[in-house]
Amino acid sequence: MSTNAERNVHFRQMQDASLLGGGVERIERQHAAGKLTARERLELLLDEGSFVELDAFVTSRAGDSTDAGEPFLGDGVVTGHGLIAGRLVFVFSQDFTVLGGSLSEACAGKICKVMDLAVSVGAPIVGLNDSGGARIQEGVVALGGYADIFLRNVRASGVVPQLSLILGPCAGGAVYSPAITDFTVMVEGTSYMFVTGPGVVKAVTHEDVDAERLGGAMTHTTRSGVAHLAAHDEPEALDLGRRILGYLPQNNLGEPPRVRTADPAARADVELDSLLSDDPAKPYDMHEVIRRVVDDALFLELQPAWAANILIGFARLGGRSVGMVAQQPAVLAGALDINSSIKAARFVRTCDAFNVPIISFVDVPGFLPGVGQEDGGIIRHGAKLLYAYCEATVPKLTVIIRKAYGGAYDVMSSKHVGGDMNFAWPSAEIAVMGADGAVGVIYRERIAAAADSVGEQARLVAEYEAEFNNPYIAASRGYIDAVIQPSQTRPRLIAGLEMLADKRADSPRKKHGNIPL
Ligand code: HXC
Repeated sequence: MSTNAERNVHFRQMQDASLLGGGVERIERQHAAGKLTARERLELLLDEGSFVELDAFVTSRAGDSTDAGEPFLGDGVVTGHGLIAGRLVFVFSQDFTVLGGSLSEACAGKICKVMDLAVSVGAPIVGLNDSGGARIQEGVVALGGYADIFLRNVRASGVVPQLSLILGPCAGGAVYSPAITDFTVMVEGTSYMFVTGPGVVKAVTHEDVDAERLGGAMTHTTRSGVAHLAAHDEPEALDLGRRILGYLPQNNLGEPPRVRTADPAARADVELDSLLSDDPAKPYDMHEVIRRVVDDALFLELQPAWAANILIGFARLGGRSVGMVAQQPAVLAGALDINSSIKAARFVRTCDAFNVPIISFVDVPGFLPGVGQEDGGIIRHGAKLLYAYCEATVPKLTVIIRKAYGGAYDVMSSKHVGGDMNFAWPSAEIAVMGADGAVGVIYRERIAAAADSVGEQARLVAEYEAEFNNPYIAASRGYIDAVIQPSQTRPRLIAGLEMLADKRADSPRKKHGNIPL
């Protein structure tokens, strides 16, 4: 029988061993590859000293062990809970130093345990991914482990925020866990995600491609839209994770934290009154409008380089979190196309799930015409955005800045799809289509018959613009609650949010809707 002193020594030895993961040599290799270890990442992610580890002594059920024959204590993942800005989060951080962070039955069990705890107490889940995928030696048991995680990702979806930071490889079916979570952040140069790696791609399609092009941060933030943000390095990625969570409640039953701001609610921005050019074809940068309106000019834009004709992201107004959805007239004239519809639809649903009011800044000439868009299914993809806005019950506030044409007027948080407060600037143009197109359709014969067709067309366009290209017909119907001076946008939105703070909305009982996926 050992003494208590001996037991304490043994315990400390085990603790020390578990802190080393795959050992000093593999930690050095991790650093040499420009990556932090699983524990170093947790230190940066969480408030200082707040990490509480669970399952540090779990070992591989297949008997995997170090070169010295000792079991890897904790196996390939570090799990537990901690605080971010004083608020509880659950975390798992895959340890690449232990068999490449590959997912064993034991690893899956550890991850599932923290996910279950997170849902039961209503706190976010942050996954730090750095893994060679399913542990090859464990075969179907490892695959089952992934499926156990996927099921929990789905059950937790819309209940607690889920955030994935991709800090190394994430390959094969493993990519589907981050894909289900609410936000994915990657690191440039050291992280990648793909369903099949370059080798398989070469064998099957004969395409020569490296991991970076196939699934690096640039690919997924500019081409595929899989990731929300790319960070230059790991500390920046971890900081982005903290910032995203700062806009969200702990769970679907809570409210996002309200933050003190020195930016006055009544602040009018007179520059906005002269921001738009008289030439409606001349674009401006919607970022500038957003920055001039929101608290302290802070806008955490998501997916900035993908489908840039629409902007999405978080900001605050009067200290309250808001989700911004705004056309970007500087890209594709702000038209809605397949990718921008998908991007905004997902974000609207994310905001709605987590009680974040949605502010829409509208300047949209319509849906993008073209064979490519129709072939690609703009009808069902555009319907996603329409569906998402109709379904969302959080406060929805809309400002029509300039164009709101055609179906896109309806879609973009109009009064008709449940907009709670709908404002328009005096520059707003709310019509079925632009003047040139409209005149061409309804006066085609008259223009053709005119002695001076060009002059007749110009006269009819001017007449149409005078009659329809304004916000007053919509305002006369109550579709617009108020036409406002651009400089008053911030105070009006903050007053609207204040008024809507206790909004209650009932939806019909159903199992779930059938959003056109
Ligand atoms: C077991 C693995 C492993 C795995 C890596 N290792 N991946 N062990 N199962 N899946 C081990 C290596 O043997 C090595 O062990 C250590 O991790 C580090 O790996 P290296 O290859 O030395 O590292 P690196 O050169 O950085 O390459 C990393 C890698 C490569 C690109 C991830 O290891 C790799 O291609 N691994 C296989 C990836 C894969 O095909 N996984 C299955 C995907 S399918 P030692 O002892 O030398 O340190 C999948 C299905 C999921 O995951 C299904 C869900 C539905």
